[in-house]
Amino acid sequence: MIEKDSLLDELKKRVIEANLPLHEGATNVVMGKGSPDAPILFIGEAPGRNEDLQGMPFVGAAGKNLDKLLAAVGLSLQEVYVANILKYRPPENRVPSPDEIKTHTPFLIEQIKIIRPKVVCSLGNYATKFFLAGLKPDAMDMQPGITQVHGRLKEVEFDGIKFKLIPLFHPAAIIYNRKLIPLWEKDMEVVKESLGKGAQRTLFLKF
Ligand code: URA
Repeated sequence: MIEKDSLLDELKKRVIEANLPLHEGATNVVMGKGSPDAPILFIGEAPGRNEDLQGMPFVGAAGKNLDKLLAAVGLSLQEVYVANILKYRPPENRVPSPDEIKTHTPFLIEQIKIIRPKVVCSLGNYATKFFLAGLKPDAMDMQPGITQVHGRLKEVEFDGIKFKLIPLFHPAAIIYNRKLIPLWEKDMEVVKESLGKGAQRTLFLKF
């Protein structure tokens, strides 16, 4: 744990030194939160305004939703780690560009190699396409979107790392489209089963 913490600290320094695209307009780099020993890693798209200000992923509205969604299925921040495809906020929260994805994701891959999760949950289209593309940004365009693949477990092997990928709807999408809540609940059953935690509790999400 201490070793993972110091490796992640050292990685953060290297991200800052890399002067990645978007760093000029950002207040803080946003690396990750949760337990580096967690068996499950949630990957979102990019920091928003609150995340940029606090230097922490998922602390704004989408983060509150993610907290509720995790709590409802009996997962705490101690059991998960949360990070993003991009390490800096895009202006006005616009979608990531191909060049930003290409330059930022080598650092996400390093995070994954340090944490070595059993399960990676990609949140929304960008993260899902990145992982379905075999962690190769150039192949993202050809991948199916989240509506087609949510809740479908896929074994991923890349550069000596191996994990189960489970695509999930982005918590921000669930804020705007409540019809996704039952689908999220069903998909989270797949997540819990993948962790050997199936059938632990009945799910009733209220928002
Ligand atoms: N949305 C994301 O994808 N990531 C964050 O950190 C916040 C909102």
